[in-house]
Amino acid sequence: MVSRKPVIARKGLFFALLLVLAIFSQPGEMVKQEDFKQCAQSAFCVRQRAYADLTDTGSTTPYELVAGSLEVESEQGIVTASLIDTKRNIPFSFTVNVLERNTARVVIKEARPLAPRYELTGDLALDEKYPKSVPIDNVKHDGKGVTTVKFGENALVVRSKPFSFELRVGGVPAISFNDKGYLYYEHWRQKEATGEVLENEAAEAEGAVPEPESGSEKEKKIRELEKALKKDLWEESFNGKVDSKPHGPASIGFDLSFPGSKNVYGIPQHASSFSLKSTRGPNKEYDEPYRMYNLDVFEYTMDSPMALYGSIPFMMSHKKGATAGVYWLNAAEMWVDVETHGGHDGVLSKAAEYLPFGKGKFANSTTTSTHWMSESGVLDLFVFLGTKPTDIFDSFTALTGRPTMPQHFAIAYHQCRWNYMDEQDVSDVDASFDKYDIPYDVLWLDIEHTDGKRYFTWDKVKFANPVAMQENLAGKGRKMVTIIDPHIKRDDDYYINKEFKDKGMFIKDKDGKDFDGWCWPGSSNWIDYTDEKARALWASKFAYDQYKGSTPSLYTWNDMNEPSVFSGPETTMPKDALHVGGVEHRDVHNVYGTLFHRSTFQGHLDRNDGRDRPFILSRAFFAGTQRYGAIWTGDNFAQWSHLEASVPMLLTIGASGVVFGGADVGGFFGNPEPDLLLRWYQVAAFQPFFRAHAHIDTKRREPWLFGEPYTGLIRSAIRERYKIMPYLYTLFEQSTRSGIPIMRAMVSEFPEDEASFSIGDQFMLGSGILVKPVVSKDQQSVDVYLPASTIWYDYVTLEKASPSSSTGIITVKTPLEKIPIFLRGGSIIPRRERVRRSSSLMLRDPYTLWVVLDPEGKASGHLYADDGHSYDFCNGAYILSEFTYADGTLTARAINKPDLDSDAIKALGSRIERVVIVGLKVPAERALLDGKHERMVESKKTGPLYTSTVRDPAAYLGESWELKIV
Ligand code: NOJ
Repeated sequence: MVSRKPVIARKGLFFALLLVLAIFSQPGEMVKQEDFKQCAQSAFCVRQRAYADLTDTGSTTPYELVAGSLEVESEQGIVTASLIDTKRNIPFSFTVNVLERNTARVVIKEARPLAPRYELTGDLALDEKYPKSVPIDNVKHDGKGVTTVKFGENALVVRSKPFSFELRVGGVPAISFNDKGYLYYEHWRQKEATGEVLENEAAEAEGAVPEPESGSEKEKKIRELEKALKKDLWEESFNGKVDSKPHGPASIGFDLSFPGSKNVYGIPQHASSFSLKSTRGPNKEYDEPYRMYNLDVFEYTMDSPMALYGSIPFMMSHKKGATAGVYWLNAAEMWVDVETHGGHDGVLSKAAEYLPFGKGKFANSTTTSTHWMSESGVLDLFVFLGTKPTDIFDSFTALTGRPTMPQHFAIAYHQCRWNYMDEQDVSDVDASFDKYDIPYDVLWLDIEHTDGKRYFTWDKVKFANPVAMQENLAGKGRKMVTIIDPHIKRDDDYYINKEFKDKGMFIKDKDGKDFDGWCWPGSSNWIDYTDEKARALWASKFAYDQYKGSTPSLYTWNDMNEPSVFSGPETTMPKDALHVGGVEHRDVHNVYGTLFHRSTFQGHLDRNDGRDRPFILSRAFFAGTQRYGAIWTGDNFAQWSHLEASVPMLLTIGASGVVFGGADVGGFFGNPEPDLLLRWYQVAAFQPFFRAHAHIDTKRREPWLFGEPYTGLIRSAIRERYKIMPYLYTLFEQSTRSGIPIMRAMVSEFPEDEASFSIGDQFMLGSGILVKPVVSKDQQSVDVYLPASTIWYDYVTLEKASPSSSTGIITVKTPLEKIPIFLRGGSIIPRRERVRRSSSLMLRDPYTLWVVLDPEGKASGHLYADDGHSYDFCNGAYILSEFTYADGTLTARAINKPDLDSDAIKALGSRIERVVIVGLKVPAERALLDGKHERMVESKKTGPLYTSTVRDPAAYLGESWELKIV
């Protein structure tokens, strides 16, 4: 021990310096690209890309089904066959399982691996209610090695030699696998058994790849690629950090093509466009593939396929009439190349599109092909088929879990900064919100509130009375959130460290010792959340008697859970670190942060016996994160470009299941100018998670610090959020049943409108409100695309919009007080107009309904309400009303008929105090509820049409009634 001290001290000094640098580096200094790998520095990415290039030079895929091995168990919905890599003579099993909701699971595994390969079990990444198998309707063999398996409207067509398969919807090809022949499954092998190693190492020892010998350019190229196939099979290093790779190469690559689709979406997280850009081929816009590897990237770069904090190996493609999704159940590092092929607009006819099988048969059509590469695991692919994006949201979240229903406060406005420094600071900020008449629901405390970055503790001086502090906020219906990270200070006097250490629940290094890395507290341990027992123990730490100073109004922020390890390779955990059962970190890296999030969620459930809904914000995410709460887009920057990127980033994450997302309002690093801050508030007020946050090194920026007109305009933006809370809450509830995002891309709402397919810079909040942010300084106007299928109305003036009839584009003037927001004709939008200090103080208030008419004078919508915090809604304690407007009558129907006399329902506001009808051709004069209760109607001319307001129509939620306008 003694002899190690100086080393530790030196190491400590070095990392302390790192820490200071991390905190205080100058804003403006962007991400250091060289700290993170590019494909050329990731051996398996090089190998898989080389394999694809080799294939493109003309070789055919060596994978074939063994003749006569294909079997179908129709009742079980299962197809099996033996697959062989004929070049290397490695046998594989091929299994397809047909599931509910037009889903199929395709698994390819080594039939006789040297040792079991890691499989991400359903328990870690799928919903408990895994979709059931459905029977296969019929099977046809064509006698030439092509088998067609029909299930519902869909078909799986498998070709034996060379091996490939395709999924079709109503006869139209939607996805094809191995069409390009990129399938390359690196089998487990023994180091001694391969000459490849020696050859590779020898070449490396000489410091260079030997010069290709003579031959044509093509031959030279092939030799180079063959060499690249052997790159760093058994060890690799990056920036001086060695990955020991004891199991050798185990990567998997394959191609998936989406015939007829110009656009593919998904595979977050990247600061990039919504419709993914091409990374290969003549149309490429990026040189690098999209990378999925959860990383703490400092001040990330815009418009880049670099990996960020979260990963969801899910992709969706859409063309008119057919939507497809794929999800690779695999949590290892992944890279995905995207290649779009030219071709004419629109859907190709079936005949033109579908040609007989053959290599790259789609290459010249309007097709997007993708190349997926993962470092390890197995090929376990889910395929989802449908006719519109909402079909895929439904099936993907039925598989990975539906979004959890947040508490009402969680979707209101959150005020955060690193850090509110002490109890006085908290009290002053809280009081100022009231003084300036700005509502807010949650005050956040970052890492400085703890006793020396020991989570679950409080700084004894600055936060000496945490309970009183929380109760003071709770008195106004407000909550508090504290940060709790997964790194645990190596201090034997710290109870969390001691207990997890004694129980052997920390991640181990490759030699089996507790992994020692550096993070905020200095030298730290990392809890192994892949261990069920560790998850349960962690959850128990949220009990009120364990987390001293916590109260029922305290919630949690899980940060740094990629995990961020300041001293690790690419600022994360070494891949050869070990988890329970000897599992390498490389196999579980991308799901680690979500298991931490999940365990915290469980802790919140348990602390009050499952009565209240948890609220946990996480930075890292994976498929299924939506089951546990919200995410945010990490350390963005106070720059216009970051405001701009927040929209496509959130659209992508939302379309990949994680519907509750937001970006730090104002930008985390740097000091936003007041107009940037204002523009950010104006758009974030319409995004699912709405939180202002800032780095410790930035100037204070609470809304009242900017003076007029900024403070007043920020106030208006936040107040508008509170007004649309009933609409937003209804959307969240809808999402818990369907997985449909809250913030939706245009293609999700207009799947028939081709002009909307690639739009990612404007969005729909639900189906009724369209928002486009202002994303540059002094921008006087903004162009917005308004699909022609309905009428649109300006959100503020309620006047009908007049976009160009040829382009659908309208140019909107954007003075400081305005960003373009439109109401979609045909929607009914519930609101609350009386804004109070916090959202829970508004729960008993009456509603206003905005009835926004379509070209036929019709509209429809829903309103959901419950107690805002408990799980009683699962037992029917909620109101869900459906409203329809047609022929001058607004009809309300209670979809759920709750016990209107129950205390929970009586505690809710249910009176409708106002109905506003937008887009009437003739102004209304009177209104009659159920033929009686006559009311006067006020009408005004809004543009060429009229808006009529019925006050106090004597109508209630949860009841059925008819309001006739005459
Ligand atoms: C990194 C997070 O992204 C940021 O939001 C937080 O303020 C700091 N960690 C400090 O906890």
